[in-house]
Formats: sequence, structure tokens, C-alpha cells
Amino acid sequence: MPKPYLCAVFALLSASHLDGETGYRGWLRYAHLDETKARDERKYLPTAVVPLGGSLLIRSAQQELSRGLSEMLGQTLQVGSLVPSGSAFVLGTLGEFHRKTPQFDVAEGLLPDGYRLKTLEAGTKRYVIVAGANERGVLYGVFALLRKVALGESIRNLDVTESPYAPIRWVNQWDNLDGSIERGYAGRSIFWEGHHARSVLSRVRDYGRLLASLGVNGCSINNVNADPTVLASDFIPEVGRIAEALRPWGVQVVLAVDLGSPKVVGGLDTFDPLDPRVAAWWKAKADEVYWAVPDLAGFVMKADSEGRAGPSAYGRTHADAANVVARALAPHGGLLFYRAFVYDHHLDWRNLKNDRARAAYENFHPLDGRFDSNVVVQIKNGPIDFQVREPASSLFGGLERTNQAIELEITQEYMGQARQLVYLVPMWKATLDFDMQTPRAGTPVKALVAGKAFDRPLGGFVGVANVGLDDNWAGSQLSQANLYGFGRLAWNPDLSARRIAEEWTRLTFGNDPKVVATITNMLLGSWRIYEDYTGPLGLQTLTDITGNHYGPALESSERNGWGQWHRADARGVGMDRSVATGTGFTGQYAPAVAARFESLGICPDNLVLFFHHLPYTTRLHNDETVIQSIYDLHYQGARRASEYVSEWKSLEGRVDAERYRQVLSQLEYQAGAAELWRDAVTSWFLRASGIPDAKGRVGRHPGRFEAEKMTLEG
Ligand code: GCU
Repeated sequence: MPKPYLCAVFALLSASHLDGETGYRGWLRYAHLDETKARDERKYLPTAVVPLGGSLLIRSAQQELSRGLSEMLGQTLQVGSLVPSGSAFVLGTLGEFHRKTPQFDVAEGLLPDGYRLKTLEAGTKRYVIVAGANERGVLYGVFALLRKVALGESIRNLDVTESPYAPIRWVNQWDNLDGSIERGYAGRSIFWEGHHARSVLSRVRDYGRLLASLGVNGCSINNVNADPTVLASDFIPEVGRIAEALRPWGVQVVLAVDLGSPKVVGGLDTFDPLDPRVAAWWKAKADEVYWAVPDLAGFVMKADSEGRAGPSAYGRTHADAANVVARALAPHGGLLFYRAFVYDHHLDWRNLKNDRARAAYENFHPLDGRFDSNVVVQIKNGPIDFQVREPASSLFGGLERTNQAIELEITQEYMGQARQLVYLVPMWKATLDFDMQTPRAGTPVKALVAGKAFDRPLGGFVGVANVGLDDNWAGSQLSQANLYGFGRLAWNPDLSARRIAEEWTRLTFGNDPKVVATITNMLLGSWRIYEDYTGPLGLQTLTDITGNHYGPALESSERNGWGQWHRADARGVGMDRSVATGTGFTGQYAPAVAARFESLGICPDNLVLFFHHLPYTTRLHNDETVIQSIYDLHYQGARRASEYVSEWKSLEGRVDAERYRQVLSQLEYQAGAAELWRDAVTSWFLRASGIPDAKGRVGRHPGRFEAEKMTLEG
């Protein structure tokens, strides 16, 4: 095929992504602003851009600025290379500003990756300064400036200083090397196919750009249930190719590795972390990986968890396992993320004192202070596993001398799997803002995980993203809001859920006030609605926990060793996790927090069955019985889910046809799914408790026919 023809095909292919409203552009749509506004804005903006320094990241920053301003405002920028003599955007690190333009007063005091946006006037000249603490900061500054334009905010007189809340803002991808994704709902892997990096990595580059626009600076590219062969010598160059695709966006690659690798890949007869041969193997392997990927951010490791190899095989501790790997990474500046998701999945369910919720704290708290300084313990938001509502993990308050990061799940594993609308930011914020009262009252989880509470140098946020090859990345248009929300919270967890929802809606669907108000409200209510029709009152998601984690399956959590028990029987429901009569889990929290969960009188209703086993007739704070609350909440949730359809329909003609149609069919499906959830759960509890619904709804479905009872005529 002649080359020009190939180019044309390529151009067409990418144009089809860009022009149609497929969702591919996500929140970086750069839609052209209303022309009057654009003209107004252009009058005050320089027509030149001067990048100080020519590095990869600065080039990305300059190109992004040119692209964004051209698409949104129709402003074309000339690229200059000299210290500006006329009006210009000037992009550079603080260091470059000091060296090359000492006449500009660019403030100090930025943390790494932070930025400063400032308009300076000198006579008739205007300079728009985008200064970064480092090169990544310059790129983030450009994205922030473009976000302002897209949100309809003026950039005529800029004066903004921002630094990230925490140094670690990573996503994890659970991609398998064969191209499938564990708990991925958006198609196949953008990274892998057939045990190789994909031959075309343009999707990886575009993903890097989306991540950079939020300030995400690391991405693990393979499943935490790691295939040890990622460390095989002939595989490492494949990792190098992916790192190259992400590098222009300042996103560093992370590898998920298996503790058993010295044996499986290295051919040793052991992976005992205290064996000097194992330590030497990790060291040589880290050197080899860093030779191929000098800017690798580090490794993430899942050990002794759900069947993975772990230090227990040799009677060693998690600190022994983490440190042997961390010491190999340390000379290269690499970090080892060690997951606290460690629990026994063969627990005896007959023993009412057993409790999976206690596992993370029991495994890691005794090791506090024994991890090397480049180890970060990665802790899931709750003590179980990404359920619809859980209390904050007790382990956040249990590590004073160990770095920690919070792990949030962006992919909607237990949360409707991108087929149901659940905006997760309010849920994440509930955890991040939760006061652990350790070391003192007024210590929210976000301060602990960012290292602020105990003055740790490292810490932050990890989100399990699992984007895939689907055009819209996330599996559905509205699910993208969760990736956006994770990134924005990781940068600044003080942003409100509403602010993030509004931003995302404006950037993704435009600034029409009706569209913004409608979608924002739908997003903000969606977690509570989903919780109501799946598992309210702290029951957890009540889904098929031994299978695909989708749809109602109340029995699946009981009478097995996985420990996601709700313990519903004929008399009552809930796990007694109190110190007084239950598993003792509440005792892992600081005394004031423990007291709140321990005492039925002050335990919040939305977690009451997580902490207490209650007779169905117990009255809650709302003065309803437990059983009536279960019925009412399910009916309320399903009704509100069905209302999404008319809310969305009110946007017909205001949202492009393609995305309008896609979202509508998702919401129509969800209305049915919610009803199915409602009926399955309420009928199950009616059977279990024998207590009828005071409002006469449960088990009665006028107008509904059983297929078996129908006859076919004609
Ligand atoms: C969940 C999920 C698994 C995953 C595990 C983990 O249990 O269902 O697929 O491997 O979390 O976080 O390691």
C-alpha cells in the first residue's frame, strides 16, 4: 500500500474518534466557545508562546496549549524560542524562569508538580506565565489554564498557585497480559494483547494525556494478580515501549510483581525474602528493569492474599517481603507499594467471632515502623472490599511510622459495572473526610494517607481505573466522571463532590445550564440511590460475591470462608462487630470512633448492620424497624432510579444525539435492574423474616405475569 494512502486511512480513523461524540475525548473535548465570548477573550491573549527549555514535557505543554486555545478560542499561537520581546505565553520551570527571565517575578513555595499561573503586564505587553515547580508542574499548569477556558472562566488576569495535596497520585490497571482486564468493564486492554505490548500504542498515549490533565503521575500497567513473566528478561522491553508512550505526559510506569518471581522467573529453589540469593536476584532484576525503563516509578505487590505467593510460606513477615524488594528499588529511587488487602479467605463462618474486617489491621499494625522508607502500604478505603458502604479502614489510624496510600476503586466492580449510574466521589469523600481521631481529633483519613498527620514523606492516592479499548474508556459515558473525580480528588481532596461533578459535566457535555444542573444532580444522588436498592444500612452490596459481583445474590456471601457475611436469618440481620459481644473489630479504632460504632444508640443508621446484629423489629433512629427500613429503602431507591429516565429525557436536543441515545438506553436498563434488585432483596427478607411489608408492596406485583402462565394465541 503506498504511504500517502496509509496516512489518509490513519487520519480518517483518528478523525472518526475525534469528530463523533463517542466520549473518546473525555473531558478534554475543547469544544469551541460561543464566538462572542471567544472573540472577547482573544482580544486580551498573546498570540505567541515561548517554551523555556525544549524537553519532552515542556513540548507536550506547549503543544497542548496551542491545541486547546486553537480549538476553544480559535487562537493560533506562534512558537517562539527566545526570551520574549513581545506579549507571549511563557512556559517553564521555576529554575528556567530564574535563569532566563529574571525580570519576571515568579513566586517560590511550590511543592513538586505544583504550578503558578500569572498574568504580568509591562507597558503594552502582556505575559501569561505558566511556571511549574518541575516540568510536570508546567504541564499541569497548562491543563489547569485550559480547564478554565473550557469552563467559561476568563483567563485575562490570571493569578493562581496550586500544589498537589500529596505526592502520590497513581492509577492501577488490572490488565492481564493476554489483553483481558480483571474487573474491567470497558473492553480489552489498551496495553496488552497476546502477551505482548500492543503494536499500536496511540491509545496509551491518549490515556496518558487524560491522566496528566488531572495531575495523575503514575500508572501500573498489569494486574495486581501479577503474571510473574512481566519480569522475564525478554518481556522487559515490552514494558519499555509502554513507558515511552506515557513519558510525554509525565506518567511513570509501575509494574505489578509477584513475590514468587525469584523462583518462577529466576529459577531459584526459593523466594524466601530473607535468603541472600533472593535479595541478590531482586537487586539484579531491578537493575535490569531500570536499565530499560529509567523512570519506572516502582512496583506494586499483592502477597499472601487470595492465593498469591507470600512471605507466610517461609514464616516471614510482610515487612520482610516488602523490604527485600524495596531495597532493590531504592538505588533507583523506586517505590514499593505493598497491598494491605491480606485476609484469610478460608475463615470458618460458623465461628461468630471470626471477622475478615479485622484482617488488614491485625496483619499490618504490629509491623508499623518495620517497613523501609521507600515502602508504601496501599490500603483499600474500607476493611472489606469496595462494598457499597463501608466504614473507613481501621488501618489508616494504625500506621504512624509507615508510609500509606489509600486505594479507591474507580472501575465499578460492586457498583453496577458501568451499566448503572454510580458517581463515586461522594463515597470517596465520606471516607477521606472521616475523622479517625488519630493521633488527635480532627485527623481525617486524607491527612493520614497524604502523610500529613504523622509527617511522613510519602503518601497519597491510588485508583483502580481499568479503562479499556471502548471508545468512551470507562464502559459508559457517565462512568467517566469517576476517573475524572478520582484525579481531581487526588490533586485536591478538599474539592466538593458537587464542584467536581459540575466541572466534569461542563467539560464533557458543555455549559448549557440545564444540562449542567440535570447531570450534576443525577450524579450527586446516584450513590445513595444505588445503595438503597442494593444493600442499605451497612448490609454491603448483597451481590454474587463468589462470581461476577453483579446482580442480587444474598445467599452467596453466607456459609463460605470469604467473610463477606451479613448473617441474616429468621430473627435478625447484621454482623456483630462490637467489642462487648461481637468480633471486636470496633476496638481497632481510636476510642472516640470505636465508641460511636460500638454503641447502637449513636451508631449511624447507614452502617448499623455492618456493626450490629439486630432483630428485624429493632427500631432505628428514623423510628422505623430494621425490616421496614429495608423494604422502604429498596422501594425508594428503585423509584428514584426509574426517575433518571425522565430527567435524562429532559435533555433531548441539548446533548449530542449519539451520547444522548447511549445514556438513555443505559438508564432505561438501570430502571429495570433496580426493580429487579428491589424485588429480589425484599422478597428474600420477607421469606427470611416472615414479617410483611407494612405498606403491602413486597411480594405483590399487580399487572405482572409469570411467563409460564401465559398462553400464546394466534
Ligand atoms: C477484589 C476483586 C479481585 C481483586 C481483588 C484485589 O476482590 O474482586 O478481582 O483481585 O479485589 O484487590 O486484589
